[in-house]
Amino acid sequence: MINIDLLVISGPNLNLLGRREPDIYGRKSLEEIYSKIKNQSKKNNLNVECIQSNSESKIIKLIHEATNNVKAIIINPGAFTHTSIAIRDALSVFDGKIIEVHLSNPHDREKFRHLSLISGVSSGVIAGFGENSYYLAIEAVKLLLNMDKTNE
Ligand code: DQA
Repeated sequence: MINIDLLVISGPNLNLLGRREPDIYGRKSLEEIYSKIKNQSKKNNLNVECIQSNSESKIIKLIHEATNNVKAIIINPGAFTHTSIAIRDALSVFDGKIIEVHLSNPHDREKFRHLSLISGVSSGVIAGFGENSYYLAIEAVKLLLNMDKTNE
């Protein structure tokens, strides 16, 4: 994962997309979403890697590896959004752009989902647009990276 533009990380249970509570999370599998992300990134000349993990330690290790090697991270931390100070701390060290995404709108759901430990260290948050949250996040990454270029 050396010198890629964009790392997309999806956390726990997102490997079950399509089968998992489809009324909330939609009917597309993560493979289908990742394949669209790869096309969209290619069209925009962004080198992308897409990973899913159910393991907090694996996600932390990925973020450590991305530091100095990746320009932007799109992360859907799943339930770790609401629990993981450790993922937040790893993201705090990451020196690029961070977009937090959610398929659902956690603010429109149970109270325990209203707190995100990740938002405070993210460049921005996109939530509530189903699979489109991921595609909108790529547009946000493009904007943020181009903004940096014009400020150079
Ligand atoms: C989620 C929202 C979280 O609250 C939940 O635990 C998930 C998915 C979303 O994409 O809407 O696993 O991150």
